[in-house]
Amino acid sequence: MSLTIFNGSPRGKNSNSSIITNWFLQGYKNNSDVCYLNKVNELPTQTEAFVVADEVLMVFPLYVDGMPGQVKAFFETLLPHKSALEGKKITYIIHSGFSEGIQNIGLETYLRHFSTLMSLDNRGIIIIPGSEGFRLMPPSMTKKKSEATGALGEKFATNHAYSPTLLKILNPKNTMSKGTTLLFKLFSKIGVDIAQSGDSFAPGNFAIDEGAQPADKFNASHSAALDKCGYEVTSLFDRLLFSQLLSFYLCFILNAFFGF
Ligand SMILES: Cc1cc2nc3c(=O)[nH]c(=O)nc-3n(C[C@H](O)[C@H](O)[C@H](O)COP(=O)(O)O)c2cc1C
Repeated sequence: MSLTIFNGSPRGKNSNSSIITNWFLQGYKNNSDVCYLNKVNELPTQTEAFVVADEVLMVFPLYVDGMPGQVKAFFETLLPHKSALEGKKITYIIHSGFSEGIQNIGLETYLRHFSTLMSLDNRGIIIIPGSEGFRLMPPSMTKKKSEATGALGEKFATNHAYSPTLLKILNPKNTMSKGTTLLFKLFSKIGVDIAQSGDSFAPGNFAIDEGAQPADKFNASHSAALDKCGYEVTSLFDRLLFSQLLSFYLCFILNAFFGF
C-alpha cells in the first residue's frame, strides 16, 4: 500500500505542516511520498499522484478561516477525476495558529462536504490548533504534540482508530479561557477607541447613492472619507492598524506559546 501525503502550506518544506508530517512519519514508518502543493507548476503531476495513490493524507494550515488558495486550486483539479476517486481513503490533518480548536470548524465542515461530494472515503479530520510556534519552539516545548502525532501515525498504519485521549492531546481546548478572552477584549478596545476618536470618516457623514448595495455603500463612504480627509485619515488608519496589529501579535504570542 502506498500513502501519498500532500503538504498544502505555501511555506512548503519550511512549514509547520512539514514538521507535523515528520512527527506523523516517525510513527507511521511505512512507505510514503510527500508532494508540496506550493510547487504550483507541478499541479498536473500532483493531481495524477492523488488519482493513483492507494491512500491520501492532506496536511495543511488554516488560512483566514479556510484553506490556503493553493489547496483549493488543487481540489478543483480533482473534479474531472471524480469517478476514478470513488472510495479512495483520505485523511486530513488541519492545523491553525490560534490555540482554540473551534477556529477550524468551518474548514472541517467544508472538508466533510468535499469528501462526500467527491465520494472519497473520509477516514478522519484531525485538528491541531496552536501550530504557529512549532517552527520556532525547542523540541521540549512541542514534545507532547510530537509524540501524540507520532502515535497518530502508528494508529494510521494499523486501523485509523484514534483514542479520544490522543485526539484531546492534539486539540486540548475548543475555546479560549476567560483570561485570554479578557485580554483580547482589552486590546481590541484600544484599537476601537482610536477609531472612534476620528468620527470624520464614519459612513453616515457622506452622501451615498441610495440604490447602492451594502458593500458598495461601505466602499463609497470609505473612499469619500479618504478623498475628503486625505493624509489625516490615512495616518489615523495607520495608528489604528498599528495598535490592532500590536494587540493581535501580543495575544497571538501569549495564546500560541503559552496556551492562555
Ligand atoms: C495568511 C494567513 C492566514 C492565517 N489565518 C489563520 C486563521 O484564520 N486562524 C488561525 O488560527 N490561524 C491562521 N493563520 C496561522 C496559520 O494557520 C499558522 O501559522 C500555521 O501554523 C501555518 O502553518 P504552515 O507553516 O504549515 O503554513 C494564518 C496564517 C497566515 C500566514
